[in-house]
Amino acid sequence: MRIDVLSIFPSYFDGLTLSLLGKAQQSGILDLRVRDLREWAFDRHRTVDDTPYGGGAGMVMKPEPWGAALDEIVESAGPVRPTIIFPSPAGEVFTQKTARELANREHLIFGCGRYEGIDERVFEYAAELGEVRLISLGDYVLNGGEVATMAMVEAIGRLIPGVVGNPESLVEESHEDGLLEYPSYTKPASWRERAVPEMLLSGNHGAIATWRREQQLERTRERRPDLLPKDDSRQD
Ligand code: ADE
Repeated sequence: MRIDVLSIFPSYFDGLTLSLLGKAQQSGILDLRVRDLREWAFDRHRTVDDTPYGGGAGMVMKPEPWGAALDEIVESAGPVRPTIIFPSPAGEVFTQKTARELANREHLIFGCGRYEGIDERVFEYAAELGEVRLISLGDYVLNGGEVATMAMVEAIGRLIPGVVGNPESLVEESHEDGLLEYPSYTKPASWRERAVPEMLLSGNHGAIATWRREQQLERTRERRPDLLPKDDSRQD
């Protein structure tokens, strides 16, 4: 999979060379290219923002650098129609389902906005080049799209076949089956007077699987009841 990232703070993404995603890039499974949007600014000061039409606080990202950057990236990737993602608190909320869907794409482009946002015409233009998605990490405001992009690239990247060594570990995670993960324990069997649940030492794999499922349901009911299917049988 190819992923291009456009940002005025490319060094945010240095961390993506570490660990599993770093290995995926070395082995060629993931082709991650982070580019400084200012490369496509056209004045001496490499300006990427300007004051908003109609007035108001803050600055807006100018459309020209975005247009030139997107043209160059899309052109360099050949005939594949990319999915162009703009992280935004005003977008659809990112979930594991979104990550699974995007992990099947051949080419993703992330456009990281800053300031009060990007000139609206950039989204319209981008829709001529590919599928445009505005995606929010959650209902809170970050300073820009960089941290949201890092989170999404990690969540998507680890679903590409071959990135996570043992594919079984992807199946038994929180959110994969719509429930939170069961609790895990390792040695020692007793630590600071806290014992590992007896059941896990029983060797009875069927009973352990049932216990883990119950734990998943209990945790989900307690912490994230919104994830459980609605009970339609109630007449209230
Ligand atoms: N940019 C600013 N806040 C954001 C959020 N919550 N999600 C995605 N991008 C953002």
